[in-house]
Amino acid sequence: MKDYTILVNREHLLSKDYVPENLVVTDENENNFHGYKDPSLKPMIRADVLPYFLKMQEDALKVGLHILIDSGYRSYAYQELVLNKNILEKGANAYATVALPGASEHQTGLAIDIAYYRDGVYTDKVCDGDKEVEWLKENSYRFGFILRYPKGKEKITHISYEPWHYRFVGLELAHTLWEQNLTLEEYYEKSG
Ligand code: DAL
Ligand code: ZN
Repeated sequence: MKDYTILVNREHLLSKDYVPENLVVTDENENNFHGYKDPSLKPMIRADVLPYFLKMQEDALKVGLHILIDSGYRSYAYQELVLNKNILEKGANAYATVALPGASEHQTGLAIDIAYYRDGVYTDKVCDGDKEVEWLKENSYRFGFILRYPKGKEKITHISYEPWHYRFVGLELAHTLWEQNLTLEEYYEKSG
């Protein structure tokens, strides 16, 4: 199941029952299970993608940056919960930050939201200009990941700028998208 280049958005939906076959619990992040102390909510990603993330994490550590996964795989049902919670908090604005169930890359097991440790303190407040964010922007493609919802491309992705959301697309496509400054939507538009 090497479907690394899959396009998932509100026009390209995953079925309700799609679950990747090889999910694994990712790393040592014990700080955030979206507020629940339930081990089943520990971040999970596809096992074939984990080595790429671990290599990226290792290289970031070499320059003193400690990145972790805050949110990985989310089931269709869990995405529905996240969306409903956000609608209660933000009303219709929720749709700019949380994908509809079936339209979330988190359901593929290929997407991650990152968090980090700074001087031993955990944070999931990931902001533009943070050194981790800037490092990832410049380096993630080397490990097959792309910044999926960039600033300035909101009209194309229909999602607000999310400096924390990275998507594994494989080494080759990640390099192309980074080099040409393309979103996945633009890439598929161009390549037909
Ligand atoms: N926050 C991203 C768009 C998602 O919900 O999948
Ligand atoms: Zn995300």
